[in-house]
Amino acid sequence: MLLEECEVLSNKTLASGLYEMKLEGPGICAQGRPGQFVNILVNPSDTPLLRRPMSIAHVNGTTFGLIYKVFGQGTREMSSWQPGHMADILGPLGNGWWPTDDRLPLLVGGGVGIAPINFLHQRLSQAGAPHQLIMGARSGAEHFLEHDPSAGITLTTDDGSAGIAGTVIDGLKAAISRQDNQAVTVLGCGPPGMLRALQSFTMSHEIPCQLAVEEMMGCGVGICMGCSVECRIDASLAQAGEGRRYRLACLDGPVFSAGELVLARD
Ligand SMILES: Cc1cc2nc3c(=O)[nH]c(=O)nc-3n(C[C@H](O)[C@H](O)[C@H](O)COP(=O)(O)OP(=O)(O)OC[C@H]3O[C@@H](n4cnc5c(N)ncnc54)[C@H](O)[C@@H]3O)c2cc1C
Ligand code: FES
Repeated sequence: MLLEECEVLSNKTLASGLYEMKLEGPGICAQGRPGQFVNILVNPSDTPLLRRPMSIAHVNGTTFGLIYKVFGQGTREMSSWQPGHMADILGPLGNGWWPTDDRLPLLVGGGVGIAPINFLHQRLSQAGAPHQLIMGARSGAEHFLEHDPSAGITLTTDDGSAGIAGTVIDGLKAAISRQDNQAVTVLGCGPPGMLRALQSFTMSHEIPCQLAVEEMMGCGVGICMGCSVECRIDASLAQAGEGRRYRLACLDGPVFSAGELVLARD
């Protein structure tokens, strides 16, 4: 983990409602793994006081990228940064996705969860490792890749304006149906409803799955306890009346085994 002053190289619209920022950060680039995030001090003077967590969306040499949506004050301020702006950034933080056995990875991203999934896609592509990418959005205007199942890219849209009409679960089913009975594993990130759907689908089909959560965070380094996530303890370890514990999204996660997570309803 480093505290790095990163120069903004570009900050542009990537798709409808979606921005991409590229920053110079040799230390973060050298250490960053897919699923890890950085914590950004948006305004050193006063508000917002807390850093804002953002997933690493890609790394090229000493440049890393963020893909983000404007939600409130912090991200609105980030969207105004011009090339040359120096940003105070802590990272890389969190655990990231961990290697799996020889199962085919199916990467599933929705909402701003496409950012860390994009980095995983980049790393697997660079390594020549076979995988499938499934990305969901409300409409085609929110996508920045082309729907191309033959190249392993499946897009879904709620309104049917690009790719498969439906949710990422429909995209996942289509990607699975294209495999010749090959065992698969699912690696996903997205909004709470999508994570619940992925958890339910993979558990009912006995597919191993790792999910990255995007909990509200304070410090990002395990001090404030502001990012606790309810988890199931392995049934064999649980005492009567127990069976649940809290883990920290910033330190123990943000990636967890799907079976471990207790996902709250919105
Ligand atoms: C590990 C991690 C990785 C993330 N990666 C990305 C990313 O790659 N791209 C991206 O756009 N966003 C990402 N987020 C979410 C991002 O941190 C929030 O959108 C951001 O902090 C909002 O700050 P704000 O000041 O703009 O909004 P605020 O004024 O703080 O909040 C505005 C609204 O945004 C929502 N919000 C705030 N914080 C979060 C949060 N942590 N998760 C979900 N919703 C939130 C709330 O509904 C709130 O009402 C990530 C969050 C985590 C924890
Ligand atoms: S954000 Fe402070 S402990 Fe996780």
